[in-house]
Amino acid sequence: MALLELNNVTVSFPSPDGTMLTALEGMDLSVNKGELVAMVGPSGCGKSTALNVLAGQVVPVTGQVRLAGQTVEGVLPSVGYISQADTLLPWRTVLDNVALAMELRGVPKKERREAARALMAKMGLSGFENNYPRELSGGMKKRAAIARVLAVDPAILMMDEPFGPLDALTKEKLQDEILSLWESTGCTILYVTHDLTEAIALADRVVLVSQRPGRVVREYPIDLPRPRRVMDVKFLPRFVELEKAIWNDLQTELRRGEGEL
Ligand SMILES: Nc1ncnc2c1ncn2[C@@H]1O[C@H](COP(=O)(O)OP(=O)(O)OP(=O)(O)O)[C@@H](O)[C@H]1O
Ligand SMILES: [Mg+2]
Repeated sequence: MALLELNNVTVSFPSPDGTMLTALEGMDLSVNKGELVAMVGPSGCGKSTALNVLAGQVVPVTGQVRLAGQTVEGVLPSVGYISQADTLLPWRTVLDNVALAMELRGVPKKERREAARALMAKMGLSGFENNYPRELSGGMKKRAAIARVLAVDPAILMMDEPFGPLDALTKEKLQDEILSLWESTGCTILYVTHDLTEAIALADRVVLVSQRPGRVVREYPIDLPRPRRVMDVKFLPRFVELEKAIWNDLQTELRRGEGEL
């Protein structure tokens, strides 16, 4: 059964000229329990909006959000969300930022600091516990934001372009970390990416969103072997075949947006 669902969701935002901009129109999306799903699509097509609706941060004009079949309004309790613009609190040290979600859930100080320290080590941030966010590189800030969410073992993890600003090596290391985390915890993951290699290497299913107003135009089951590591799969002939197919459809969507089709 679907764990997380968007049913016929339409979202509009007021524009400065007084008109309404339709970001999503009749969007259906479902993610099964334990599934790893990647969402791709042109810039501005509504991917972040779809995650924001699921996270209860944007209210749809029509349609529903369902969790395990039940309609939900507002914030879903079991979701850890790393949004595209996620920022660390500038007045807190990196350690206290990583420990924040645990603090909000009432984890005692000593325990949460120990857990935050261990997670920081896993994310390659050891030695920066007492630094402030402004003293970190862009990629380090992103890693700290990921650590903060992982600290509370969310049953559902939603990530919006989590590895975007990272260098290729760090990116691949973290992608493999996410794969191990998913394999060992059985959590459900939905993430947005512009990187097709990242979408295919990690996911069970890639979902292509149309030009705005966004809706799901096509889904691609990723039948690559598991357990996977990015380096082991990205040169497989099947991988290349999937990448070409998704790339072609994405180009068609982009051309449609430019009015060529
Ligand atoms: N809070 C908001 N207020 C007004 N307009 C918004 C708001 N959030 C998103 N939009 C508009 O909705 C559309 C979809 O935006 P969204 O951020 O979901 O796109 P996206 O697919 O995530 O793009 P990208 O890949 O560039 O991150 C855009 O035209 C954007 O300007
Ligand atoms: Mg976005």
